[in-house]
Amino acid sequence: MKHEILEKNIGLMALVMILAVSIGGLTQIVPLFFQDVTNEPVEGMKPYTALQLEGRDIYIREGCVGCHSQMIRPFRAETERYGHYSVAGESVWDHPFLWGSKRTGPDLARVGGRYSDEWHRAHLYNPRNVVPESIMPAYPWLVEQNLDGKNTAAKMNALRTLGVPYSDEDIVAAAESVKGKSEMDALVAYLQVLGTAVKNKR
Ligand code: HEC
Repeated sequence: MKHEILEKNIGLMALVMILAVSIGGLTQIVPLFFQDVTNEPVEGMKPYTALQLEGRDIYIREGCVGCHSQMIRPFRAETERYGHYSVAGESVWDHPFLWGSKRTGPDLARVGGRYSDEWHRAHLYNPRNVVPESIMPAYPWLVEQNLDGKNTAAKMNALRTLGVPYSDEDIVAAAESVKGKSEMDALVAYLQVLGTAVKNKR
């Protein structure tokens, strides 16, 4: 019997298994590259402003992603707490995306607008100022370090080659619009826009 040859030959069996699993996997993965729902930005979404973009880079530099995810899963416990679950269209302009996988702190995918700018400043300067039991580290240097905007235009240009719709005017104005702002200004601007493209439709 043909099947017996397969069952008694472990090398051949492994090969055929890999083939079967690959086909199964690819039929799930490949279509996602071509579907609008995963490739198109959600309606009304705007690219990060120059300041928000700089804030995002500070978020990456400070390792916030090591304690905070930006990915609300479609489970009731999560949507009750954080708001509408994350959709792919929110991340199409994020390079790299910051979904994360570690939640020492809460998910931040919809934190935009939840607190005032002042709350964020006080919190990032020293989380214990506003949340006495917090174990989050303090980031006091953010208020002392200012942006010079030297690389902002180049970053936006690079993102444009990846499909983020920045206009020439956006890029020309970039350096001027962030110059002299503190890293705190930038990070707070970034946090305040997170998740705002999708309204909280609980
Ligand atoms: C060591 C882990 C850790 C790191 C690193 C960390 N956080 Fe947190 N974060 C927490 C914890 C725990 C909380 C919950 C307590 C609190 O609110 O301070 C929190 C809360 C927050 C909140 C409030 C969220 C909410 O919905 O109440 C924001 C905003 C936040 N962090 C932003 C940041 C940013 C921005 C960075 C990077 C500069 C950062 N965190 C780095 C652990 C961390």
